Amino acid sequence: MAGSSFGRILRVTTWGESHGTALGAVLDGFPAGVRLSPDMIQVYLDRRKPGRTKIATQRSEGDLVEILSGVFEGKTTGTPISMMIRNTSQHSSDYDALRNCYRPGHADYTYDKKYGFRDHRGGGRASARETAARVAAGAAAACFLREMGIEICAYTKSIGPVSVDMAAFDASLIQTTPTCMPDAEADKAAMAYLEKCIQERDSAGGVVECRITGLPAGLGDPVFNKLDALLAQAVMSVGAVKAVEIGAGTEAGRMRGSQNNDPFTAGENGIEKRTNHAGGILGGISDGSPVVLRAHIKPTPSIFREQETVDRDGRPILLTIQGRHDPVIVPRAVVVVECMCALTVMDALLVNMTAQSQNIIRFYKQLY
Ligand SMILES: Cc1cc2nc3c(=O)[nH]c(=O)nc-3n(C[C@H](O)[C@H](O)[C@H](O)COP(=O)(O)O)c2cc1C
Repeated sequence: MAGSSFGRILRVTTWGESHGTALGAVLDGFPAGVRLSPDMIQVYLDRRKPGRTKIATQRSEGDLVEILSGVFEGKTTGTPISMMIRNTSQHSSDYDALRNCYRPGHADYTYDKKYGFRDHRGGGRASARETAARVAAGAAAACFLREMGIEICAYTKSIGPVSVDMAAFDASLIQTTPTCMPDAEADKAAMAYLEKCIQERDSAGGVVECRITGLPAGLGDPVFNKLDALLAQAVMSVGAVKAVEIGAGTEAGRMRGSQNNDPFTAGENGIEKRTNHAGGILGGISDGSPVVLRAHIKPTPSIFREQETVDRDGRPILLTIQGRHDPVIVPRAVVVVECMCALTVMDALLVNMTAQSQNIIRFYKQLY
């Protein structure tokens, strides 16, 4: 299927459907000599897994990663890293009613229009299950970035009307609260809101914020491969993401230049910015400040209340969806956003190696 690969030097291809035998990723262009094991990947996959809390579906997907190639004696070999996750918890019959009808808000209608038929079980490639493959690949990139001192940290910023109080930010809560909010009070309020959504057979949306720290200045390429453009593509390609903001984002449209501009200063570590409305990117190139990105995520389209729709022949029907669906996507999307950012940043780092001739000369003079 065209469109299943992403990246220039570090190129990831994901494959598989949610109700097929397995799904996975092939990561090509990954440098040799990086420490990598299934355990290191599994930590990330476990954060995406459903069934951990009552606001995530009770599917008990094992999501165990197998590394099939590209790693020898705990280190990457420089050859394609192929990773596979077997599908072990499919309830394909839950989707029988969807064979000939279209869920509002999902990809059933558009897949039928594009291909003439579709794998209706679980949404096929449009299923969130595909994001497990992205997480496996992105986890490998994140492990490499950490060795370089680059940290990527995403968390839930808001769910429905409930937003995190950034003054109460506690990073240790991101992986312990069911909502992945770094603020205990906001987590409690968001859970109460989600309980109400569940009772009303409805779903909620929200925002994931991601901060990338330790990034050197100079990443990103004029003009079509600007870092912000690449990050936006990477994150927007995750199902249910409807908008991506960098820095002040849409708020910049309401500011004056004098408010939005970040004054430069001579800091301890060289040139710095006093504020970061730019979100760490100027002219599509990282400026050395933290990159700050927000992904706006729509409410889960598969809701359990009766909905009006049509069948393949356009006849109106009333649909009640069966199966297991999250009342909110946001907490499970946190690690997916993090991993898509990791893939994008690692690729940008590799591409940047050829930006200045002195880097190439220094490298080859050392070598020969
Ligand atoms: C982590 C994650 C979990 C998701 N879980 C569900 C789900 O349980 N049920 C559902 O209908 N959609 C779910 N989605 C959203 C669909 O995959 C998405 O809405 C669909 O592919 C249509 O794409 P679009 O919303 O970008 O138009 C999830 C998305 C993500 C990223």
